[in-house]
Amino acid sequence: MSAQPTVVVTRRLPAAVEAALRERFDVALSPHDAPTTPEDLQRALGLADGLLSTVTDKVTAEVLAAYPLRTRIIANFGVGYDNIDLAAAQAHDIVVTNTPDVLTDCTADLAMMLVLMAMRRAGEGERELRSGRWTGWRPMHMMGQRVTGKTLGLVGMGRVARAVAHRAHHGFGMRVLCYDPSPPSPVELAALGAEPRATLEALLGESDVVSLHCPSTPATRGMMNDARLAQMKPGAFLINTARGDVVVDDALIAALRSGHLAGAGLDVYRGEPQLERRYLELENVVLLPHLGSATKETREAMGLRAVDNLAAFFDGRPIPDRVA
Ligand code: DGY
Repeated sequence: MSAQPTVVVTRRLPAAVEAALRERFDVALSPHDAPTTPEDLQRALGLADGLLSTVTDKVTAEVLAAYPLRTRIIANFGVGYDNIDLAAAQAHDIVVTNTPDVLTDCTADLAMMLVLMAMRRAGEGERELRSGRWTGWRPMHMMGQRVTGKTLGLVGMGRVARAVAHRAHHGFGMRVLCYDPSPPSPVELAALGAEPRATLEALLGESDVVSLHCPSTPATRGMMNDARLAQMKPGAFLINTARGDVVVDDALIAALRSGHLAGAGLDVYRGEPQLERRYLELENVVLLPHLGSATKETREAMGLRAVDNLAAFFDGRPIPDRVA
């Protein structure tokens, strides 16, 4: 029997995923679950036929310049793959895959949760209660904003945004607008109750809550800057479950401080796990530690999807989620 392909896994994964990997590959699992360094990644790329990376492993052109380079496939655990330099991977003849679909519902749930938490001041309320400052029910206490009937603007209309549209429109009675240079078909939009807008500016100017669902690309990095935030309605909310670098932190902090924006809900940050410390001083921002896909069911499904991609590649079958 020929030897099994070798696969290095950068972080601890759900037990069922590690078991599936052990069964199928000669696998080096992550014993310490620590973030990888460029040197760790280069070592892995030199040793293993496949690398199972996560969205926090920075597989840059410099890392891929490692010599010798043995890896032929990088199966990324995540729908996003902005942590990998695709052009460099292609130049080295390395296949790259992601894990779409299986995290759509949970990420959409979390985006909706941030909409609700930000508009209903849930983080602020919990902080008040936990710190013993709550003096009891009163008519004017911590009034937030009604969600039902408000306008939600979705920036990017991929799988997660469509699942958010469904929840917001059919579940919360929201009016839904969307902006995407390649929007879904009119039939699909109608089923979601979503109205397209031709420009981002038009969407920003009409929405009570704007939720970001675009990937991090050269075109979207820094997109939500001073000018774009100024185009949002006074008293609106910004939700980010996409990538931190789509938002300019200085601009968002200024808009939250001045009251131009009533609040924000963030799950992702530029340079995470570090985040701009000034957010911590603001009551009107809900902050979560990148939990969009963090449910047992989804994380297991993501892992098994990465295993499927590796298995297909090494079996010479069509690779389900190839992105490069
Ligand atoms: C992704 O999949 O890109 C998320 O950010 C992590 O699940």
